[in-house]
Amino acid sequence: MGREQAPVRAPAGTHDVLWPESWRWEQLVAEFARRAALGGFGLLLNPMFEDAALFRRGIGGDSDVVRKEMYEFTDRGGRDVALRPEGTASVVRAFVQHHPPVPWRTWYVTPAFRYERPQAGRYKQHHQLGVEVLGTDDPDVDVEVVALASGLYRWLGLTRVELSVNSMGCARCRPAYTEALRAYLEARRHELCDEHRERYAVNPLRVLDCKRPQCRAVVAGAPRITDYLDEACAVHLARVRAGLDALGIAHALDPRLVRGLDYYTRTTFEFAAQALRSAQNAVGGGGRYDGLVEAVGGPPTPGIGFGIGIERLLLACDAEGVFPAAPPPPAAFVVDVTDGTAARDLCAELQGAGLAASRAYDGRSMGAQLKQADRSGARYALIVGPDELARQVVTARPMLGSGSQEEVPRRAVVQWLRDRAQQAADAPHAPDGEEDGR
Ligand code: HAM
Repeated sequence: MGREQAPVRAPAGTHDVLWPESWRWEQLVAEFARRAALGGFGLLLNPMFEDAALFRRGIGGDSDVVRKEMYEFTDRGGRDVALRPEGTASVVRAFVQHHPPVPWRTWYVTPAFRYERPQAGRYKQHHQLGVEVLGTDDPDVDVEVVALASGLYRWLGLTRVELSVNSMGCARCRPAYTEALRAYLEARRHELCDEHRERYAVNPLRVLDCKRPQCRAVVAGAPRITDYLDEACAVHLARVRAGLDALGIAHALDPRLVRGLDYYTRTTFEFAAQALRSAQNAVGGGGRYDGLVEAVGGPPTPGIGFGIGIERLLLACDAEGVFPAAPPPPAAFVVDVTDGTAARDLCAELQGAGLAASRAYDGRSMGAQLKQADRSGARYALIVGPDELARQVVTARPMLGSGSQEEVPRRAVVQWLRDRAQQAADAPHAPDGEEDGR
């Protein structure tokens, strides 16, 4: 006999999502899909890895995401590829490759890989829900996109998510701002953190995003991009803000908001969950990227979108005590103390009729089966013993709340369970978590 091997564990910064926690993921993705469809967005599926050059050109070779965090490797054929660190660049690559009619509205749910030091709310593999709209720079689309994210937070029951909005200007007006910022940082370079003392000149905007206290202190007095916007960018921002006001979406203008990816132009936005105390409280963010399609080799095409981090969003729900993992109870657990045939056939019949049902296996005792029925959370244990079999009935024992057990004719079980499920759904305050209210 060989020695036992140490069990293999998931890599640090990754995680398995088991039932019933995964039930929340199902509900969240389904609701997002429903809302996206109402807005005319179609699902896009694309590869988890791409030519690494896509991300360097799209996100910016100087961003932290590309420089420090990308899972980049040479495959067996000698190609330089990278696991996607985010969804937008791949959507844009697909747009350039397939040239669909514009405006092109897509949504996605995707894992994203970033080599970061794992901590609460920051993982090496996280998951995003996102949308992108390509082919229009109408500011009303910016409003629609922000409203889609905002509506999802509201649906979840979150009340402490704050929205910040900014404009990154455009290729015409941003250079003057970047110059002013560079000159300001140059004068105070000795006060910056070690990294930015060396690198501020390469991309001064990155300093605005630095979380280290030294940089934050310097940034507090830095020039504001909103003072440098040209007329068209200023009008765009004003129309976006007016649209948010009109839809009742509270927001604050934050002229220091720059996001971690270099493709943004004009509108940028971020949603921060105030209930999360850590620095990792951004539960979603996005913005416009009117130069990205060209950067990856397509025709000039404006675009906008957002990504919502699912893990962080669920942490925010936990922190606010909303959207619990409370899957509805299965209709039945069949306890068969004959030879399992009744359980086999009854489960198939119930599932075929759209009623969730499970059973035990391996000829376990009545007590063991009832224990399993209890653990399954089922509304009823449907017991079949030799006596029930002979009389063609089942004994239905309520497993949740009160109520006494009764005999139900075998051929009437489906209807009987349906009636009970209906009664539970109609009850004003269902005792067993059936009440939903969304
Ligand atoms: P992002 O801000 O880098 O934007 O990521 C979007 C969201 O993903 C964040 O707000 C956060 O909730 C979550 N997230 C990011 N990194 C991690 C991590 N390491 N661990 C856990 N959650 C994380 C983008 O990725 C853009 N593609 C969004 C976008 C779409 N902009 C335009 N269109």
